Formats: sequence, structure tokens, C-alpha cells
Amino acid sequence: MLESLEGLERTHSCGGLRISDVGKEVVLMGWVQRARDHGGVIFVDLRDREGMTQVVFNPEVQPDTHKKAGALRDEWVMAVRGVVQPRPPDMVNPQMETGEIEVLVEELRILNAAKTPPFELEDFRVDVSETLRLKYRYLDLRRPLVMKNILFRHRAAQVTRQYLNGQGFIEVETPILTRSTPEGARDYLVPSRVNPGQFYALPQSPQLFKQLLMVAGLERYYQICRCFRDEDLRADRQPEFTQIDMEMSFITEEDIFRVVEGLMASLFKELLDLDLALPFPRLTYAECMARFGLDRPDMRFGLELNSVTDLAKEAEFRQFREVVDQGGIVKTLCAPGMARLSRKDLDDLIDLAGVYGARGMAWVKLQANGWQSPLAKYFPEGVKSAINERLQAREGDLILFVADSPMVANTALGQIRLHLGQREGLIPEGAYNLVWVTEFPLVEYDHEERRHVAVHHPFTAPWEEDIPLLGTKPEKVRARAYDLVLNGQEIGGGSIRNYRRDVQDKVFDVLGLSKEEAEEKFGFLLEALDYGAPPHGGVAFGFDRLVAILCGVKSIREVIAFPKTQKAACLMTRAPAKVETEQLLELGLRLEK
Ligand code: AMO
Repeated sequence: MLESLEGLERTHSCGGLRISDVGKEVVLMGWVQRARDHGGVIFVDLRDREGMTQVVFNPEVQPDTHKKAGALRDEWVMAVRGVVQPRPPDMVNPQMETGEIEVLVEELRILNAAKTPPFELEDFRVDVSETLRLKYRYLDLRRPLVMKNILFRHRAAQVTRQYLNGQGFIEVETPILTRSTPEGARDYLVPSRVNPGQFYALPQSPQLFKQLLMVAGLERYYQICRCFRDEDLRADRQPEFTQIDMEMSFITEEDIFRVVEGLMASLFKELLDLDLALPFPRLTYAECMARFGLDRPDMRFGLELNSVTDLAKEAEFRQFREVVDQGGIVKTLCAPGMARLSRKDLDDLIDLAGVYGARGMAWVKLQANGWQSPLAKYFPEGVKSAINERLQAREGDLILFVADSPMVANTALGQIRLHLGQREGLIPEGAYNLVWVTEFPLVEYDHEERRHVAVHHPFTAPWEEDIPLLGTKPEKVRARAYDLVLNGQEIGGGSIRNYRRDVQDKVFDVLGLSKEEAEEKFGFLLEALDYGAPPHGGVAFGFDRLVAILCGVKSIREVIAFPKTQKAACLMTRAPAKVETEQLLELGLRLEK
């Protein structure tokens, strides 16, 4: 019963026919989205990558073909030859791009049958678990919305390549089997059969190679490359993900910002037909923390934070006092009109603050007669009105207070801000906000490891004028690093690098990396710095994150053809999987249990 497509040549995609094509003989090929028998006439929505076209089998025109069409079921594969005709006016479907026409079929070839899919391959009315979607990802990808994301991603990659090629960038592939790169996550390791007991690490990024390409004189490099990080997964993190990775020589931050802003402008123009306002605003890390509590501010809405540490000192409230005496801060968020929140709502917010480490969160409802709050009795009137004034709080507003270490107070209120922004619908639909975050600290103290660790990575250059602080107050040293934030998500980050060996050595010193360790881990890079490394710097974008935001989807899994689950598993191939004992022996490995 199945036929071949011999002698038939596809003339159009299922998404391309319009009213201007009426009268043309066409050949379409694809899958049966659905078949309906309307009193003798059979209508089939025929689907391919590009879209859907209604094809019609009329028993009065082609009785044999019509009879054959009676066998068609969902997801069968077929080819038709027929003539484009306008739909009768009452059958026009303005929701479909091809909704004004249909194809009256003269010849049908059934190319393959299909089992009934485990879930409906419609965009709407699909109530299916992600587990099932990922197990049958090749079917899930057939759904027009999912397919659209993959095609969109392809276009984003094309625009990126075109733009960067035009700016003199050279695309170079870098090794996948390599050594550990210090991006801060765990490595995926690959045992070497020919070197028993030795391992490759999959690259967390091409960081060291791109710097070496600058030493090599390539001047402008890019790559749309896969990176591998064994870390806890979330909606915006995958164990293997894609970066647009770039590096440039003989440049400063300004050159990098210009190139990146041009790239973003091209992507938004070509993909969304939006004109971005350039240049993007810049905020220092310190300002971000002060105003938004996080280093990736979502500036699509207000609700900014304020410090009232100086004023809270004047109050009789012991908990606040103690925190301030120990070097902590008292931070507030004033939510206009939200004094209406119930006790339960407030308790939920307090719990949420707790998730981010806050030991408590106090609240004030601003009523006509002043503060309604458990705090009210501890605050002199003068302090209350000074706080109201600083926050520009009005009757009906809610003020939330967190007193804690700067990191905890900022993070907790920063997250409460995001939560309230979403809950209260303060985030405008279709708005895009791009902002650079600059002047990150070079290092931070890791209490668990009891040493300083790099905030970006160890190859990031310190600000020239801060270099003397490296030996005395390393936390005060600013890094020549920057992140690009889109709608509150970090979509990219980079830095100017240490191209001088002496500065790189000083940074390693601060990080507590001995000469021997540095030599063992990155000796090849350090040696290269001695052979005339040019001033250089770069940036890398999370391509999946960027595409997901531009597509308007919540999870990067929606824009990756074959993504992994939160447990880093591929449900379709069932990777990771056990291997034969012989394979392990060959690698010189034995499992403990
Ligand atoms: P960084 O580690 O900041 O920088 O990574 C750059 C961007 O990659 C994205 N990203 C991820 N996306 C999905 N899943 C993940 N697990 C994941 N981890 C990171 C983020 C991030 O902004 N070598 C440096 C860049 C440089 O200095 O040039 C680097 O990799 O969007």
C-alpha cells in the first residue's frame, strides 16, 4: 500500500502558498496534522517544517484518490499533486498563513504510516508532561510552536555569524577534549584509553584557547560553541549549552561594548524587527546591588530598594541595632498600594525572604494615622517620617525591611522585588531591557574554602589604579569585567584579560595559587603570555538564554533540540547509561559498587 515518491518533485513548502498562487499545479509533501471527513469531502491539514496547508479530496473530482485518502490517519506521511484554489469565503481561516487557499488533490501518494503518537501534536490543547515530550522529542519537535523555536534559533545563529563576519571576526573551532578550564563549575571528565589513569576535561568554555588565539595573532575570534558544566540545573541552565564566544586584541572595554551592542541591535532588528536604543545604559555592580539587590537588575519596572541603615540606628529596635553594630545594613522596599496585603500574604513574603537567607522581614503598612506595624512602637515619630520621606511612601503603601549582612539583605529584598513585580503585573509585556553591569569586584572571600576566589575568572584584569590594593585589600579591587543583562537575566559576560605576566602572577597570588599550582594548571597560558601577548579581552553570550528570551519562552529547554532534564539525563537516548565492564577495564577503571 505504501508508495514511493519517484517522479514527484516537491514544488512548495506547506507554509508558502497564498491567494496569488491560485491556479498553479503544486506538489506538497509532509505529515497529516489531522484529517476530517465532511460529508464525503475529505480535508487534510498537511504539515511540514514551514507550516500547514489544507488539501481537499473531492469524490466527484477524483473518486479513486478520495477513496485512498479515507485511509489517512494522524502523522501519516504523504505527497500530493493538485491545484491551488481559493477557499469558499466561509471557509477562509485568518489564523492560518495559508488560510485563504486550499489544494484540490489530483494525485495522492501515501509514503508511510505512523503509530498513534503518545500525545497530540497540536500546539494548543496539549496537556502533556515534559517527561513524555522529551522521551519522544522527535515528535514534540513536529509541533509547530516547538519547531518554530528551532528555526528561530537557526536564524539567530545566521544573523550572529553574518554580523561578526562583517566585523572582521574569524570563526575558529577549539578542542572539546581538553584540560580543566576555571569557570567555577565541576568538570565533565573523559578517561583516556591510551593514557591510563589520565583524563580529559570537557571545556566549561573555550576561555584559554581564545586567549591563546589572541597570542597567536588572530585578532578577532568567534565561535558558536558548546560548553559543558556539571552544576545544579535550573530553567536557565543545562549541562551542555551553547555560547557565542568572542575575543578581540588591541581593544578596550569600549570596543567590546560597541561590537556587542551592534550584534544585539542586528539580532533584535532581524529577528523581532525592533530598533534598540544604543548605547545600552551602564550600571556599576555597587549601584545594582544598592538599587535592585542583585547583580542582574530587571529594570523593566521600578520598586527599587533603599537603605535606611543610618535612620534605623536612631530607633530603639534591638534586632536592627545589633545588625548595624555588626556591620550589617537595614534595607527596605516600598511597594505602592500594597498595604492591602493580608497577614497570610505577608507571611508568604517573609517565608520567601527566608529562602534567600533572611532571618526575618519586618513590615509597615502606611495608614492615614501613620505606621501600622509591629515596629511602630520602637521608632520615634521623627525617624518614621524621615523613612517615609526617603522612600517617598504614601498612605496605602507597604514597606518591607530586612536587616542583615549586605549580601543577604540585598539578595532577599531583590528577590522579593522580582516576586512582587511579577505578582502585581508590573512587568510590561513585550518590553526588552538591556543593561551593562560594570566594575565587579575582582575577587570575593569564600568562607568555605577560606580563600579568595575570582568573581569572574582568574584571567580577568584588575583596574590599573587598583593594582596596588591587590596585596592589601583585594576585595576592594575592581575587575575590568562586565555582564550584559537582558530583562533581569545574565545573557553574557566577559572581561579585559591579564596580558602581562606580572599582573597575572599577582592575581594568582591573591587567589592563593602557588607558582607550582599555577604552572601545573595553566602553565601553557602563562608561558604564552611571555611571548608577546597583545592587550586583549572578550565576552561570551549564553546563546540558549538569549534565544529563549527572544522567543518568549520560560525555559532554555524549549530552544534546544535535544535538551536534558534537571537530573542531566536525556530521556530519549537514556544517557547517561551503564557501560560494559570490558569497556571500563580497557580504560583502566573499576567501579566501587
Ligand atoms: P560565563 O561563565 O559568564 O563566562 O558564561 C557566559 C554566559 O553563558 C551562559 N551560561 C549558561 N547557559 C546555560 N546553561 C549554563 N549552565 C550556563 N552557564 C553559563 C550565561 C553566561 O552569561 N569564558 C567566560 C566568558 C569570557 O570571559 O569571555 C564565560 O564562559 O548566559
